[in-house]
Amino acid sequence: MLKQVLLQATETAAALIKEYSTRSFTISNKEGINNLVTEVDHKSEEVIFEIIRKNFPDHYILSEEAGEIVQESKYKWIIDPIDGTVNYANHIPICCVSIGLEVDGKMEMGAVFNPFLNELFFAQRGEGATLNGQKIFVSNTTHVIKSCLVTGFPYTYLDTPNGPLEVFSKFIRKGVPVRRLGSAAIDLCWVAAGRFDGFFEHKLSAWDSAAGFLIVEEAGGKVTDTKGKYYNPYQPGIIATNGLIHDQLLSVMLGAEVPDAG
Ligand code: IPD
Ligand code: CA
Ligand code: CA
Repeated sequence: MLKQVLLQATETAAALIKEYSTRSFTISNKEGINNLVTEVDHKSEEVIFEIIRKNFPDHYILSEEAGEIVQESKYKWIIDPIDGTVNYANHIPICCVSIGLEVDGKMEMGAVFNPFLNELFFAQRGEGATLNGQKIFVSNTTHVIKSCLVTGFPYTYLDTPNGPLEVFSKFIRKGVPVRRLGSAAIDLCWVAAGRFDGFFEHKLSAWDSAAGFLIVEEAGGKVTDTKGKYYNPYQPGIIATNGLIHDQLLSVMLGAEVPDAG
């Protein structure tokens, strides 16, 4: 029943964002100058809420635009109604709906759906990860210098030592491809599917990574914070890899140079 509702909410919202993409919709700014929210983010959130609340009126909900609906419940739905809003607003078809379900403080299930590529990623703790129903697995690249990476940048730049641009520049200077898709949930799913060997980002919110980090783990990958510790989506930094390049990527995040193939 939980899985069914999770998938129904994700699929319904994803169909809605696709349908609205060809219409005109209002776009406004949150804080900063380019942290956008569209009318469709709110509509997507509404349909997701409706489906969850109809089935589980007493569950806790945390959602990017509406905030928190606090309830005494061991079930917590963590929702990004559109991840990749800047892409969506610019008609770039790299965006998705992302929903994670935490039970007793542990992520148990996650779904990420990009309706423009018709790609539905799903994972349930202990059951593996799938893309459109087929099992997916992380890549087997063993050297970060030979890997294909992806990252993202916060709307308000983080000027800290080993910040987003420093780490990005270290890889680029060594000739390592580092992509920037603009949707952290998709970045994570593409690591899970073996398209990328690793993903790192300095500042995310729980709704960006809730579903995606479980999908990476269930596809055989490794996810930690930027210090290499157990991953918790309520803190900002993330490193998600195929596991084999994890320590090498972590060392660069901690200030080292990109290690050679050795
Ligand atoms: C953003 C995307 C982006 C990441 C940002 C997020 P939004 O989410 O995931 O890839 O770099 O940090 O805020 O605003 O499109 O939901
Ligand atoms: Ca997001
Ligand atoms: Ca969003």
